[in-house]
Amino acid sequence: MLYIGVDLGTSAVKLLLMDASGEIKKIVSKEYPLYFPHPGWSEQKPEDWFTQTMEGLKELLAECDKSQVAGISFGGQMHGLVVLDEKDEVIRPAILWNDGRTTEECDFLNNVIGKDKLSEYTANISFTGFTAPKILWMKNKEPENFARIAKIMLPKDYIAYKLTGIHCTDVSDASGMLVFDVKNRCWSKEMLDICGISESQMAKVYESYESVGCVLPEIAAELGIPETTKVAAGAGDNAAAAVGTGTVGDGQCNISLGTSGTVFISSEKFGVDKNNALHAFAHADGHYHLMGCMLSAASCNKWWMDEIIGTTDYAAEQKQIEKLGENHVYFLPYLMGERSPHNDPNARATFIGMTMDTTRADMTQAVLEGVAFALRDSLEVARSLGIPIERTKICGGGAKSPLWKKIIANVLNIKVDVLANEEGPSMGGAMLAAVACGEYANVEEAAAKIVKVVDTVEPEPELAAKYEARYQQFRQIYPACKPIFGLIQ
Ligand code: XUL
Repeated sequence: MLYIGVDLGTSAVKLLLMDASGEIKKIVSKEYPLYFPHPGWSEQKPEDWFTQTMEGLKELLAECDKSQVAGISFGGQMHGLVVLDEKDEVIRPAILWNDGRTTEECDFLNNVIGKDKLSEYTANISFTGFTAPKILWMKNKEPENFARIAKIMLPKDYIAYKLTGIHCTDVSDASGMLVFDVKNRCWSKEMLDICGISESQMAKVYESYESVGCVLPEIAAELGIPETTKVAAGAGDNAAAAVGTGTVGDGQCNISLGTSGTVFISSEKFGVDKNNALHAFAHADGHYHLMGCMLSAASCNKWWMDEIIGTTDYAAEQKQIEKLGENHVYFLPYLMGERSPHNDPNARATFIGMTMDTTRADMTQAVLEGVAFALRDSLEVARSLGIPIERTKICGGGAKSPLWKKIIANVLNIKVDVLANEEGPSMGGAMLAAVACGEYANVEEAAAKIVKVVDTVEPEPELAAKYEARYQQFRQIYPACKPIFGLIQ
C-alpha cells in the first residue's frame, strides 16, 4: 500500500509518497506566493494552496501504481485563519501564523479577559499569530467579512475539506487557535463566546491519526486513485514533524529548522508552563506537548543568502566559516517580530558587534548562531520547568547543513540525533495516514518501526563552553534593544 503526506508549508507544499514499510518513494514540492500587504502582515490565498497541492499530487503519483494509494494525511502551517462563506467561497486571504497585525486584540485577550482566564480555558495565552485574535481582528476591522463567515478553518483543513467535502480538524492544530480546550480536547465554549462565534462555525475535531472519510469521487477520478482512499485528520506541522522524527511518547525533543524554528517536547501528561512562555498543545500521538516557536529560523539564513548577499550556494558560504565559538558579531533573528519567549511583534532583526575586520563569513556565522541562540532561549524555559533534555532530533530545510547542526549541538549543549531524512511534517503526515488505514496499530508503533537515527552530533566540551559565554552575552542584547524597537515601528 502507498501513503501520501502533504506538508502545507509557508513557502511551498511538499508532498511525500511512502510505502507500507516507511520507505520514501518520491518527494515533490510546489511553491506559491506569500503576500506582505503591510509591514508585519502575512497572507496567502487558500485557492493557491489547493491548486498547487493538486498539481503536486499529480506529479507525485505520475509513475506509481495509483491503485495502491490507501491514505492521505497532512502536516500544515498552524494558526492561519481561513474563512469561508455560505457558498464555501473563501472570504478573504488567509492570515498566517507569522502575521503581527493583532497587537490590540492580543492586549484585549491577555489584559482585559486576562491571561489566567485564557490559560484556564485553553492552556495558553494570546500571541499575535494565534487564530482567536485574528477572528477578533476581523470582527473589529472587517465587520462585513466577519458577518459572512459560515466556516472557520485552519490551512491544512481547507485542503482536507476540498478533498473530502468534510469540515474537520485535529487536536494538535486546533490547540493553536486559542479557542480549544487543550486538556479536554474539545472547543472552549467560553472562548467561542469571547470571539463572537458559534460551535456550528467550527470543524469537527479528530485525533490526528483518525480517518475523517474518503476522497470525493471527482477527486479520485482526477488523481486516478481509488475512491476508498482514506483522508486522516493530520496535524499541525510541528506535531506532524514530531511524528516524522519519532518524537512521541514522553520527554522526547525535536527541533524544526524551517521557516519558523521550534523546540518541541512530547509529554504523556497534560502540563502547562506557569508563565505560558511555551505553548501547551495536544500531540498527534494522542498525548500532549510543550513547544517554543521562533518566527524566523531557516528563513533568516534564506533572507541573508538570497536577498542580502545574493547567492544560491549556501554550502559555499558556510565553508568560509572557521571561528566557531569566537564570533564577535551577533544577530537577533527577529525578522518577523518574535513569539517565544519574548512575545514581541515589534522586535526586529539586528546585527551588532561589527568592526573593520568583520568578514562576510562572520556575518553568515552570526545568522546561523543567532537562530541557535534563540532556540536555546526556548530550551532554557523548558529547563527552568525541570524538564531534562539531553538530546534532540532535528528536521526541516536548515537541518541539511552539517555546520548548523554542529552549532546547535554546541549552543544548546545537547546531542543532536540525525535521521535518515529531514522530511519532518510530510513524513509525519504519511505515517498518520498509515496509522489511520490500520497499517500500524498506533503512532508510537509507526515511529518505532519507521524512524531511523543514522548519526549523532555530540557537543564538544571546549566549544560548548565558548558558546555558553557567547549565549550569556546574546541574551542581554534583546532587552537592551527592546525600547528602541518600540520607537522604530
Ligand atoms: C507554530 C508556528 C509555526 C508554523 C509554521 O506555533 O506558528 O511553526 O506552524 O508553519
